[in-house]
Formats: sequence, structure tokens, C-alpha cells
Amino acid sequence: MTTLHPLSQVTPAAIEALLDAAFGADRHGRTAYAVRAGTEAVADLSYVCLDNQKLVGSLQSWPVVLTTPDHRRMPLIMVGPVAVTPEHQSQGIGNQMTRVVAQRLDLAGVSAMMIGDPEYYEAFGFRSGPASDWSLPGPVEPERILLRAASGSQWPTEGELGADLLRSED
Ligand SMILES: CC(C)(COP(=O)(O)OP(=O)(O)OC[C@H]1O[C@@H](n2cnc3c(N)ncnc32)[C@H](O)[C@@H]1OP(=O)(O)O)[C@@H](O)C(=O)NCCC(=O)NCCS
Repeated sequence: MTTLHPLSQVTPAAIEALLDAAFGADRHGRTAYAVRAGTEAVADLSYVCLDNQKLVGSLQSWPVVLTTPDHRRMPLIMVGPVAVTPEHQSQGIGNQMTRVVAQRLDLAGVSAMMIGDPEYYEAFGFRSGPASDWSLPGPVEPERILLRAASGSQWPTEGELGADLLRSED
């Protein structure tokens, strides 16, 4: 039986080891890291998954902002990395964590994006296409920029995505 808990339930080093196991130790060069550089994970939208006290998964979310060509700042959440230890993958843990973050985003009425495989994340409302022309601070396959627009929200097709340092200092 796996259960979700705040990130603070485990040490930062344990989460780093989990991310190394899931993504490889070279993961820090990925564009997703550059997008949210300098921010802190949003506590209410980030958690670890424990199986009898053992860390088996983590999901972190970050404050980011899209700056439109006419200089409007549009805050949203960046979800990810979503990670499950290799020996616990394909047991529904990624699904459990992503479903919960989607429910929390809906409750809060907040839009989110992520860089990920649309084949996996579209089941949770993340769409490939609407954000594929956004500019990110590094290489990215356009179809892997996924947007989960909050109900009633409108997102421009162009803009520059980066860390929301103003919100991170709150
Ligand atoms: C991607 C990840 C978060 C999914 O979590 P999980 O707990 O292993 O997956 P779930 O048990 O929720 O779902 C399993 C299903 O998703 C599919 N799936 C897993 N990763 C997928 C991906 N990247 N793209 C498409 N489908 C995927 C599996 O094939 C499986 O399908 P099935 O049920 O038809 O057999 C996890 O496998 C992981 O941490 N992987 C390493 C990091 C990674 O490669 N991430 C890439 C996505 S950004």
C-alpha cells in the first residue's frame, strides 16, 4: 500500500538519489531544470510516495511564468519531475501521484505545464500542441511541452517560459 506525503517526510538527499535512479545523474542539464532555476518546490503540489516507509516515488511542482510578446506575465505551475524507482515502475505509482496533482490543480483553478511524454500525461489533462511554440531556455521537443489549462483560462501560443522568482520569494 503506497501513500503520499509532503516532501519534508524524507531528506533532500533521498529525493536526489531517487531522481538519479529514475533519470540518470546527468539530468541537471535538462531544459526543465533551467526553466525553474532558482525557485523552490511548491509544497502543496509536491510530494513523495512511500511504501512502508520506503521512498518509491516523488513529484515536484514549481512556480514558473510565461512572459507574452506584449510583456504580460502569466504565472503557472511547472509539474515534474515525476519519478518512480525503477524497481517500482508500472505499478500505478506515477498514475497515483499525477492524478492527485491534477485534482489539486483543479481545486485551486490553476494552470500547469510540464515537459513530458504526451502518451503518458494526456490521461491527466496535459495537452501537447497549445504550448508547442513557447520559448524555453534550452532545447526541447515541441510536442513534449504539455499544457494543462485551468477551466476557462486562455493561453497564448507564444511566450517565454522561465522561473517565477517573484512568487518563489513569497
Ligand atoms: C514515467 C513514470 C513516472 C511512470 O510512472 P509508473 O509508476 O512507472 O507508471 P504507471 O504504473 O502509473 O503506468 C504504467 C503505464 O504507463 C506506461 N508508461 C510509462 N512511462 C511511459 C512513458 N514515458 N510514455 C508512455 N507510456 C508510459 C507504461 O508502459 C504502462 O502502461 P501499461 O499499463 O499499458 O502497461 C516512471 O516510469 C518513471 O519515473 N520513469 C523514469 C523517468 C522517465 O522516463 N520519465 C519519462 C516521462 S517524463
